[in-house]
Amino acid sequence: QNTYLVGGELKEWKGATAEVYSTISSTENYQPTLLGTVPDLGENEALEALSSAVKAYGKGQGLWPTMKVEGRIAAMEKFVVQMKTKRTEIVKLLMWEIGKALADSEKEFDRTIEYIYDTIEDYKQMDRDSAKFEKNSGVHAHIRRGPLGVVLCLGPYNYPLNETFALLIPALIMGNTTVFKPAKHGVLLLSPLLEAFRNSFPEGVVNIIYGRGRTLATPIMKTGKVDVLALIGNSKSANAIQANHPQKNRLRLVLGLEAKNPAIVLEDADLDLAISECVSGATSFNGQRCTALKVIYVHENIVEEFNKRFSDKVDALKFGNPWEQGVQLTPLPEPGKTAYIQELIDDATSKGAKIINKKGGETTENYIFPAVLYPVSKDMRVYEEEQFGPVTPILSFKNIEEPLDDMAESNYGQQVSVFGSDVNTLSPLIDTLVNLVCRVNLNSSCQRGPDVYPFTGRKDSAVGTLSVHDALRSFSIRTFLASKDT
Ligand code: G3H
Repeated sequence: QNTYLVGGELKEWKGATAEVYSTISSTENYQPTLLGTVPDLGENEALEALSSAVKAYGKGQGLWPTMKVEGRIAAMEKFVVQMKTKRTEIVKLLMWEIGKALADSEKEFDRTIEYIYDTIEDYKQMDRDSAKFEKNSGVHAHIRRGPLGVVLCLGPYNYPLNETFALLIPALIMGNTTVFKPAKHGVLLLSPLLEAFRNSFPEGVVNIIYGRGRTLATPIMKTGKVDVLALIGNSKSANAIQANHPQKNRLRLVLGLEAKNPAIVLEDADLDLAISECVSGATSFNGQRCTALKVIYVHENIVEEFNKRFSDKVDALKFGNPWEQGVQLTPLPEPGKTAYIQELIDDATSKGAKIINKKGGETTENYIFPAVLYPVSKDMRVYEEEQFGPVTPILSFKNIEEPLDDMAESNYGQQVSVFGSDVNTLSPLIDTLVNLVCRVNLNSSCQRGPDVYPFTGRKDSAVGTLSVHDALRSFSIRTFLASKDT
């Protein structure tokens, strides 16, 4: 396992390693399971990876950035064919490393394969469009999209395959060269792909390194040779990493960051639908999704009924190991997460909220059952912080202005879910909501997919746009050849 990929070589690492544990226990008396080790690389290896990406870019003259569309597509297709053979191994690692349920792990793998194929198709279309010449005021233009340079890519733990590839694949196909460092959890599942990366792309185009984020990213950024920082994670890390670049204005950013997506349940909502969508929206993958519903506003006339039925439905969710049939809640990969969620619950209950579901807050060594908190007020940490875990704050409202004001004041602006049935109320409300976030989900919970739709956010939620179509644009720049009538 102790290999990393730099300069087209799978390097055996003889130095310090980091042990990778699963919070899933393989014994009856709870003991985290040791899954393997990865290299704990240092500054020298980080700089070696960067030099390799810089060399492969070759000041714009490298083999990859100058390669024709067909060549880049062929490399990507070669990679994806090899990746498909690793499905069983990667799905198993997704379950053990991050505790993702079997069906969701399979979906993450399949969605990623589809993402790659869709990206290839969109790239072909982009090329067809660029074949069209324009002529204005006697100037002919052949407009194309070109690479930006060297991309430092940092992936998240909750979608270690899919969201990582949502950065890496478009960055690569547009002709950039990359240094990629995976998150701490979900790190082993890249090992089965190192060989495929090595033999599909030219030397130095994909460099994969392991170790601590700051140790590796800081020296890389300090060189000033990174053209794009691509990161899915939190704004605190993004700001800290970005700050090391000596010429920050030159640095392009593609960032997927925090969100505090609200659900707004209006008085005339179909309650069965609203409750079912809110439960899955708040609890799927234990709430560890940037798109999860992280606060629910319910009209005061229906809040009592909503709370009762919502809580009962949450209590009926099944906890178990990821491979168990029908499992909905699974062990949390981050060791400190249970304690953090407990802190949020304690803070809220000390300020007047109650846990309104029977099983809320029940803990085991690697899990805390989703707690539903009501009534939540703005002085509580769970209202302000992105919990990214199993706790759901509920607030009631009398006037729609209350959640709208909160959204306008929030630091985040990714998505919202709104539940209601009267078109005359919904229509103007949606017109306002789209100005506060980037996606309004009508009578459904928030989500990123389908991946062809733009995925972005306002304020601290994102910089740039991801999705099959938009990411190709985020990782490239419009260039053109101009020629005059002679
Ligand atoms: O964690 C953030 C992901 O982009 C969420 O994706 O809505 O498909 O679960 P998802």
